[in-house]
Amino acid sequence: MNDVPAPAPLAAAGRQRGNPEVRAIPRVIMDEVYCAIRLQRSTVTSMDRLAILTSGGDAPGMNAAIRAAVRSATTHGITMMASPNGFMGLVHGDFQELDDRAVGNQIQRGGTFIGTSRCPEFLHADVRAKAAENMRREGIEGLVVIGGDGSFRGACALAGEQGVAVAGIPGTIDNDVYGTDHTIGFDTAVNTAVLAIDQVRDTGESTGTTFFVEVMGRTSGAIALHTAVAAGATGVLVPEAHDDIEDLAQRIRKSIQSGKRSHIVVVAEGDHEGGAFRVAKKVSECYEHPYRVVVLGHIQRGGSPTALDRIVAAQSGALAVQALAAGRSGIMIGIQRGVPVEVLLSEVVAHSHPEARSDLLALAQQLAG
Ligand code: F6P
Repeated sequence: MNDVPAPAPLAAAGRQRGNPEVRAIPRVIMDEVYCAIRLQRSTVTSMDRLAILTSGGDAPGMNAAIRAAVRSATTHGITMMASPNGFMGLVHGDFQELDDRAVGNQIQRGGTFIGTSRCPEFLHADVRAKAAENMRREGIEGLVVIGGDGSFRGACALAGEQGVAVAGIPGTIDNDVYGTDHTIGFDTAVNTAVLAIDQVRDTGESTGTTFFVEVMGRTSGAIALHTAVAAGATGVLVPEAHDDIEDLAQRIRKSIQSGKRSHIVVVAEGDHEGGAFRVAKKVSECYEHPYRVVVLGHIQRGGSPTALDRIVAAQSGALAVQALAAGRSGIMIGIQRGVPVEVLLSEVVAHSHPEARSDLLALAQQLAG
């Protein structure tokens, strides 16, 4: 392994998202704290080969993270292998080497060029054992997993049972991973939704129509909340909050009476009322007025990543490899208050969902007009 400068100390960890109280999240501080699952610390002293995979729903910026991880590996004298299609690649023993050139011209691309999948098979210990065996056969000592908390559960199990060194990078448009303020892809998805709503608003304003816009998020209202505030929505409905359809209808009625012509209601796909079509119907039963429904769907998952997503991806990819090269394992690279931190994966998976931003919900309603 090449001689590389010692990693700069990461900033102190801070708080749980959505909680005004600052609460400490256990964090790896160099060699002091280790993953609470059975693998406490990678036993590998000299790492020659790592694998990287993207898992779950793809998110813009994943390619930028792969690029950063590969190029960071190169500076550490480590060969990086891709596990195509997420954990499936490990299970099939299907690895492909990624060198610096293989990740060229990827930073600006959405999706993930190494493929992704949801891999329910990985819930089974015998499948994980096979994956670890395939890794050992290829001389792969550690794994970088880019995905959401479901993917991190798989990574933790692999580490705990099989002694594979793992480092996670939060990548999902949903921004619903505990221990980080930002998951790769979230900023791009919100910007995509805001741009779409800006365009919808043109026709809404011209015709006096209310638009119910459904954004992604089966269990997380993060995209909906951020989009609603940024797009100046009249209402927002998220899975984490109780909906009051009558109140929403009343607010729309009042603002129409006050002369406002365009109304946007942002609905998270996982909202309890059952998506934008149902919400629109229920609102119009309370207050009849012309409306249309727009479901943005997977459009939000694609497209060129924003600068913010690329920067977070670059930091996370480089730091994940740096951590593994230094012998640390069972960690996720999170961003807290703009600063990269290492958070224990065991902590991340123990808290499946950060709290919703009730401040944004209140703000969206306060500013609706
Ligand atoms: O990756 C997250 C996400 O896009 C969610 O927002 C959405 O609910 C889900 O994935 C959709 O998944 P799929 O493409 O598998 O239907």
